[in-house]
Amino acid sequence: MSHRRRMRQREFYYREAVREGYRSRASYKLIQINAKFNVFKIGNYVIDVGAAPGGWSQVASNFVIPTGKVYAVDLDYLEPLDNVIAIQGDITDPKTQERLKTLIGDPVDVILSDISPKVSGNWSTDHARQIYLTEQALRLCASGFLKRGGKFVCKLFMGDLYEDFVANLKILFHFVYFYKPKASRKGSAEIYAIAKGLKKGPLRKKKKPKKVEGKDNG
Ligand SMILES: C[S@@+](CC[C@H](N)C(=O)[O-])C[C@H]1O[C@@H](n2cnc3c(N)ncnc32)[C@H](O)[C@@H]1O
Repeated sequence: MSHRRRMRQREFYYREAVREGYRSRASYKLIQINAKFNVFKIGNYVIDVGAAPGGWSQVASNFVIPTGKVYAVDLDYLEPLDNVIAIQGDITDPKTQERLKTLIGDPVDVILSDISPKVSGNWSTDHARQIYLTEQALRLCASGFLKRGGKFVCKLFMGDLYEDFVANLKILFHFVYFYKPKASRKGSAEIYAIAKGLKKGPLRKKKKPKKVEGKDNG
């Protein structure tokens, strides 16, 4: 794709995001993923890892309201969003994970990860960091944050660590699909994995999250 066409495509989704009131162009990636893979159901509880500025959280919230909820984690502050509980913190920090666990109470139905580091321009470094961060999100799936049968959607930067990551994904989930949404630039080395049916994990007991101290942006 020519540079000009790429720019036009980026501008198109940027304009659409502004027009429809989405926080980011990335919102359309999740809308397109959901259209193809049916990720969300009304009433679902969702964790969004690497959530700022909040496009994915907004989209997820729209799909799960009025009875579902989104828990959004990011290093950056997230401007308040309806039906989204924001946690500002580093997902690699056990304290952030502990706060998240307390807030969700029960395991959630879906975990999303669009996490990426600040890119340095050195692809092998950026790829390694991005996979490391996504591994932290995958770890949440394997350690009681996601219910048995739950879904995981994540962004992956392509590179030499990709195959190992995918192998682990396939160990944990019954079904794993890969998809590059139209809203993702054709030339970009990112792809999205959609994993369904967590093989082992806790069952979801009740629908209401526990009332504990935390910042409720919704
Ligand atoms: C591409 S942006 C996410 C965009 C978002 N999905 C949206 O639609 O608005 C990636 C995010 O990952 C976050 N991030 C990077 N490292 C993180 C970490 N260790 N813990 C939590 N968030 C992190 C960044 O702050 C950034 O906001």
